[in-house]
Amino acid sequence: MGEGVLMAGQGGSGAGGQASLLADAGLLLGPDGLMMAGVPLAQIAREVGTPAYVYNAETIRRQFRALEAAFAAIPHRVCYAVKANSNLAVLRLMHDLGAGADLVSAGEMRRALAAGFAAQSLVFSGVGKTVDELDETVSAGIGQVNVESLEELKLLGAVAARLDRITSVGIRVNPDVTTDTHPYISTSHGGIKFGVPHDQVRAAADYIRDHPYLRLTAVAMHLGSQLLDPAPYAEALGKLVALVKALRAAGVSTLESLDIGGGLGIRYQPEAGPGMDPSALAAVVGPLAAEAGLPVTMEPGRFLVGSAGVLLTEVLYRKHSGGRDFVIVDAAMNDLLRPSLYKAHHEIVEVVPAGRPAGPVDVVGPICETGDFLALERILPAVEPGERLAALCAGAYGFAMSSNYNTRGRAAEVIVDGGRWAVVRPRESVDSLFASETADPFATLSDNG
Ligand code: LLP
Repeated sequence: MGEGVLMAGQGGSGAGGQASLLADAGLLLGPDGLMMAGVPLAQIAREVGTPAYVYNAETIRRQFRALEAAFAAIPHRVCYAVKANSNLAVLRLMHDLGAGADLVSAGEMRRALAAGFAAQSLVFSGVGKTVDELDETVSAGIGQVNVESLEELKLLGAVAARLDRITSVGIRVNPDVTTDTHPYISTSHGGIKFGVPHDQVRAAADYIRDHPYLRLTAVAMHLGSQLLDPAPYAEALGKLVALVKALRAAGVSTLESLDIGGGLGIRYQPEAGPGMDPSALAAVVGPLAAEAGLPVTMEPGRFLVGSAGVLLTEVLYRKHSGGRDFVIVDAAMNDLLRPSLYKAHHEIVEVVPAGRPAGPVDVVGPICETGDFLALERILPAVEPGERLAALCAGAYGFAMSSNYNTRGRAAEVIVDGGRWAVVRPRESVDSLFASETADPFATLSDNG
């Protein structure tokens, strides 16, 4: 196959499916192996080293536009969930596309402001906001704070009054709806920490109505992540719309939006369908939003950036042990936690296919835990030390969840756009990891008196 032709399977877990995953990522097979927006991934790996995250700006734009197109007939705004990938270059891209942003910490607000977002375009979600975070975000003039408990609401009211800032509030409701996703990322059934329970929403709304510094502008939900079926959105939104009607009947006249959260899933498995169809979602959301007479706010993270990123890694060693074949690579669970934490599937492909026969291997990292793997029992072509692999669909919750475990510097991040590429976060130096630590604290204290 020549340049511009999608690569078929490499003896992996499904030839046709793998081609779809590569297309989702905006990857093509050229004479130098996998190409992202005209740039060979092998060149990036050579020049930047591995492990390295590489993001395709054009794929992010494509996803954003697909969502915008699907929701074109519905008054709406997209607030990108910063937690999925908070690199400033990604945030700037989202800002330039016209997105707002959804935050889960004051730290994320600082990033968003640094990337150019107006404070008014930001929504602050999260179950455990601290008083310092409320202070910082309210003083910045944040667009909306989604509260998750009555106690938080009271604290927010006190902060807004002290700072003399009228603050827009969304009540994040727990709609008690079950979703079909990994239990760790399902966030909308009863008995979990998220959202204000249905029977406390009225009390929250009354509190806001009676508070001179709070305005109830949204009713919000977030069902969970990696959802592929719009049905739970319909069910939960039905409950939210009933709530909106009840609130209006009780005299609430300040509502400005229905916040449906994020959660739109993508394709990870080679043989899987193409992820959440945004038009199918729009088809269930549109009529309900119209019934409520409110514009929609969306908080997608993964849908916008997940497919757009790959994690490049180099093969260090091979080993046969206990009847299994291992490929030991230089990326580990500290770089990409999802396989270890959720048993998540990330398709692994050769950066430059060598055409060797395939067989089952475990792809594992250097970290001292048996749970440190990128893939188990994966059919991969025989690879040699020094060759490079790419873990696909790593743009969301990849770098963002990485850590320094085992005193490993976090990976470099690179963005590719229209034939150009740039490092947008250099690899962390090992020295920087312990530069602020003190080996002998008490000696230091006595030195200073
Ligand atoms: N809004 C709220 C309030 C959220 O909690 C989340 C994600 C989002 C929006 C964005 O969800 P998305 O559109 O990306 O599904 N680390 C996990 C995912 C955790 C998601 C947490 N909340 C993973 O790697 O799959």
